[in-house]
Amino acid sequence: MRTILDLADKYVQEAMRHDCTGHDYLHVDRVRTMALAICRGENSVVDTEVVELVALLHDINDAKRQCASPSAGALIVEWGGSEKLAKRIDTAIAEIGFKGGFNSPPTSVEAEIVQDADRLDALGAIGIARAFAYGGHAGQKLLDPEIPVRHFTSENEYRKLTGTTVNHFHEKLFRLPGLLHTATAKRLAEERVAFMRIFLRQLGDECGYEFSP
Ligand code: ADP
Ligand code: NI
Repeated sequence: MRTILDLADKYVQEAMRHDCTGHDYLHVDRVRTMALAICRGENSVVDTEVVELVALLHDINDAKRQCASPSAGALIVEWGGSEKLAKRIDTAIAEIGFKGGFNSPPTSVEAEIVQDADRLDALGAIGIARAFAYGGHAGQKLLDPEIPVRHFTSENEYRKLTGTTVNHFHEKLFRLPGLLHTATAKRLAEERVAFMRIFLRQLGDECGYEFSP
C-alpha cells in the first residue's frame, strides 16, 4: 500500500502542478494532513491508508479543473492495487463533492473524514482565497449588490455561474459547518466561519454595502 501511496503522491504533484483554480497539489496536501489529523481524533476504526489515498486522488477529475485524468480506480489498478481497493476509492471520491447540497451522503467513515477535510479547506482564510481564485478563473463576478443570493433546486442550477463569489459564501460556504461529520472538523469550522464573517463585514464597510454576514 505504501508504494501505491507514493505513486499517487507523485502523480498528483505532477497532474496538479499548474492548477490555478484552487485545486492544486497544496490543496490536496492540506486535505491529506487535515484528514489524518481528523483520524487521530476519531474513536471508530478507520483505514488511514484509504483515507490518505482518497485525499490524494479526490480532485484529479474535478470538473472545475477542466483537465481529464484516468479515474482514481484505473490508476490504482495500474499501480498494482486490487479491483476491490480501486472500487472503494472511486466510491469514496464520488461521494465527497458538495454538488450544491444535492450529493448523496458518504457511505464510509473514510469518505466522511476526507469530505470534512476538503470542506474545511473551503472555509477560513484559505477558503476565502480559494473561492476568489476559483471565481476569477471561472469568470464570475467578485461581488455585486444588485445580484441576490440564490436558492437552488438542482445541482445543474448550482453549477451555473450567474452569481458572485461573495454570494457563494451564503450559497455554499456557510452551509458547510452544519454538514460536517466529525467533532474535530466541527470545532475547527467554527473558528474559520467566524473569521469569514469578520472578512465580509470589513469588505462591506470598505465598499459601502452591507453584505449580510
Ligand atoms: P463543489 O464544486 O461541489 O462546490 P468542491 O469541494 O469541489 O465542491 O469546491 C471546491 C472549491 O471551489 C471550494 O473552495 C469552493 O468554494 C470553490 N467554488 C465552487 N463553486 C464556486 C463558485 N461558484 N464561486 C466561488 N468558488 C466556488
Ligand atoms: Ni478538494
